[in-house]
Amino acid sequence: MLVLGVETSCDDTAAAVLADGKRIVANLVSSQDEIHSPYGGVVPELASRQHVRHILPIIDGALKQAGAGLGDLSGIAVTRGPGLVGSLLVGLSVVKGIAYRRSIPYVGVNHLEAHLLAIFLDREVAFPYLALLASGGHTLLYVARDFGDYQHLGGTRDDAAGEAYDKVAKMMGLGYPGGRAIDQLSKSGNPKAVAFPRARLKKGSRDFSFSGLKTAVWHHLKERPEGAESDKADIAASFQEAVVDMLAARTIGAAVDLNIPRVVLAGGVAANSRLRQRMAEATRAEGMEFHVPPPALCTDNGAMIALAGYHMLRRGLRDDLHLNADADLTL
Ligand code: KG4
Ligand code: ZN
Repeated sequence: MLVLGVETSCDDTAAAVLADGKRIVANLVSSQDEIHSPYGGVVPELASRQHVRHILPIIDGALKQAGAGLGDLSGIAVTRGPGLVGSLLVGLSVVKGIAYRRSIPYVGVNHLEAHLLAIFLDREVAFPYLALLASGGHTLLYVARDFGDYQHLGGTRDDAAGEAYDKVAKMMGLGYPGGRAIDQLSKSGNPKAVAFPRARLKKGSRDFSFSGLKTAVWHHLKERPEGAESDKADIAASFQEAVVDMLAARTIGAAVDLNIPRVVLAGGVAANSRLRQRMAEATRAEGMEFHVPPPALCTDNGAMIALAGYHMLRRGLRDDLHLNADADLTL
């Protein structure tokens, strides 16, 4: 059973072909980083135009890599939200057109659910698991109880974790998106060099907050603008340590409180080397299982959309041509 997955929710045009709900036979991503980098963030209008340019070659390329034609597909999955509405509409419209013309069943997928399930592209994991989804647009905690059954526990009150990475990277002149650059630079820095604040939310809160930390970095940079390169690495490492502290504390705390024996990381920030290391140590100390996909499956990709769609199709779900994109879709 082959499922095509199409993702255009933000600034990556991606398509993948998944066999039997687990084996990736093609997975292509066309990144727009270079186009948005000069602006220090995604420019929605430019993103939609790039999707229009790339969507058909990416889908063709994925099918070619899979050695398959449209006639071999059992279904198509496409992101229907959340995301930039202009971007979402490109993928959704193209998939509707193909599904209608070739009479292929299709489903609109929640991008957040797809991130939560991305781990299954790498390995089998038992339910329930505590999932931290940290990306450029979201920082959310869920208990995943089964395919299609997720309990929302909390989320960020201001910036997403990835957004904080990107904004701090911009302040430091590291380009966009900045998560990976800060991750790299931090390797040569001292995480204890600057005591940046950790948000102190009410005891037992399952929420996150990163805007105070971001502002603290801004003040720090303003006060010492002529910093040396080694200073930069120290600032990056100290900022990163604060983010990782907050993410790890909330996630492990929730898993302990709810007595859930396994933790899964998802979303672009789950590609972060320090977060992966810290979560591995913290879960080991608590005797919990720990699972995180390889970095390329943490960031946006078509394979996770195909996987989430496969499980929807298997449950008999189908969408019709009335389905609309939903920029604010929740889970
Ligand atoms: O999941 P994703 O690809 O797109 C969204 O749905 O937002 O996540 C992108 C985010 C960006 O903010 C990027 O800076 C961050 O993930 N990111 C990282 C790393 N790689 C990507 N953040 C920290 N460390 C990384 N290695
Ligand atoms: Zn994403």
